[in-house]
Amino acid sequence: MKKIILDCDPGHDDAMAILLAHGSPEIELVAITTVAGNQTLDKTSLNARRVCTVAGIRDVLVAAGCDRPLIRELKTAAYIHGESGLDGPSFGEPTVALDPRHAVDLIIELLMQSNGDITLVPTGPLTNIAMAVRKEPRIIQKAREIVLMGGAYTRGNTTPAAEFNIYVDPEAAAIVFTAGWPLTMVGLDLTHQALATPAVLQRIAALGTPVSRLAVQLMEFFRETYRRNSGFDSPPVHDPCAVARVIDPKVMHCVDAFVAIETHGEFTSGMTVTDFSGRLGPTNAQVATKLDVARFWDLMVDAIERIGAPAVRAS
Ligand code: RIB
Ligand code: CA
Repeated sequence: MKKIILDCDPGHDDAMAILLAHGSPEIELVAITTVAGNQTLDKTSLNARRVCTVAGIRDVLVAAGCDRPLIRELKTAAYIHGESGLDGPSFGEPTVALDPRHAVDLIIELLMQSNGDITLVPTGPLTNIAMAVRKEPRIIQKAREIVLMGGAYTRGNTTPAAEFNIYVDPEAAAIVFTAGWPLTMVGLDLTHQALATPAVLQRIAALGTPVSRLAVQLMEFFRETYRRNSGFDSPPVHDPCAVARVIDPKVMHCVDAFVAIETHGEFTSGMTVTDFSGRLGPTNAQVATKLDVARFWDLMVDAIERIGAPAVRAS
């Protein structure tokens, strides 16, 4: 099993990443840490607890982190995720509590006490990860690797140049991309191949469990906001792509590149400037380019099925 810390801003696709991690026998979900991004920290933290409650995730530490970017004002994405950050389904009171530790301290503690076998999987702005690197630089050597959802090499989604997670906190991203650890960037070029089509939603709905119903409700809301705001017929489900890379690296093709984060551009702030030619600098990232779409959705649907029937989960 591969141990991961999922640092996220639930968020509809973050919620799917939590389900994929929890329902995959290849993954040991050591902790879920939350950050401000899609919505404010109080909302992303409540949403993480809500998803854990519905999915029966009880043995995973959940800790709240930074409530704003390192320098800039927080920008949220209610236009995609709604006022709650997880609009669509209705939730009861969460029965999963927050760990009292700050997420940055928990990330440091877990990595420093590990034997180097924990992968960081950020799927929101990189504020928590950057703060952890600054507070305890030794985590750069202790982390097995970092596989993040963010950036892109051909497009933006928040501006023409920048993807949301990087756009919200470019300074944090610059710290993370220059830290020197093994880094995989799963950006929009890859995640726009992971579309929750009607056929995919029918596969999930056919499982007929509370968790599959949650997933379908999340994706149906996500589809409407993505249709309204970005013209997609089916929504790209970004965050579980990063988890899928950890489960099965062969699920996507990656190419070595030099990636620099633009933090000053008047129109390009938050851009992940990606150089595959070696002219700008030495390789500091593997950049995901091509998804095995069928394999990805098999991983996602199988994970949701396993959660619905805990008895079949690997020990
Ligand atoms: O740009 C997509 C990313 O921004 C996803 O992680 C989504 O959840 C938002 O955080
Ligand atoms: Ca996210």
